[in-house]
Amino acid sequence: GTSVAEILDRLCATVPDYPKPGIVFKDLTPAFADPQGLRAIVDAIVAPFAGQFDLVAGIEARGFLLAAAAAYATGTGVLTVRKAGKLPRETFLEEYALEYGTAALEVHTTDIAPGARVLVLDDVLATGGTVGAAVRLVDRCGGDVVGVGVVLELEGLGGREALSGHRVHSLQRLGD
Ligand code: PRP
Ligand code: MG
Repeated sequence: GTSVAEILDRLCATVPDYPKPGIVFKDLTPAFADPQGLRAIVDAIVAPFAGQFDLVAGIEARGFLLAAAAAYATGTGVLTVRKAGKLPRETFLEEYALEYGTAALEVHTTDIAPGARVLVLDDVLATGGTVGAAVRLVDRCGGDVVGVGVVLELEGLGGREALSGHRVHSLQRLGD
């Protein structure tokens, strides 16, 4: 079959003990590299929000792959959400927790039209730290987050709870 669930089952690689012992890494690069896979993923991730967004927020790095394709496919634009220190003009910055320490994402303050309806996309939802920071950035820019789309949701890490109040759509949920 060619359903997105079947494609993910076939083309999402499982890598034990990466990046360290005890972690089971889910690698979507084979699915992105497959022509039917990329199209099925992008179509499925935007479908629940069809007609409801003007802008797709893409989170560096893996979220960029989805967001640009989704924006192109839907005739919308892409918002560049970068790791801190990469954008040249005035930015907003939001920090999020890592296992050790913090990281931060930035957006240009003027890259969202007031009231724009924004769909936030990323490849994986784990703790929700990354997407949560992106949601706060969109809010600070005056955008309206209409939903969050991810390919894989790793259950049991609190991501969905961290995004409470937002519509979160995942193509596949993986238990721990
Ligand atoms: C990974 C993944 C998500 C995030 C999910 O990104 O691409 O963005 O982690 O984890 P969280 O829900 O706990 O925040 P990573 O920071 O490894 O960077 P990359 O996308 O640049 O590879
Ligand atoms: Mg990422």
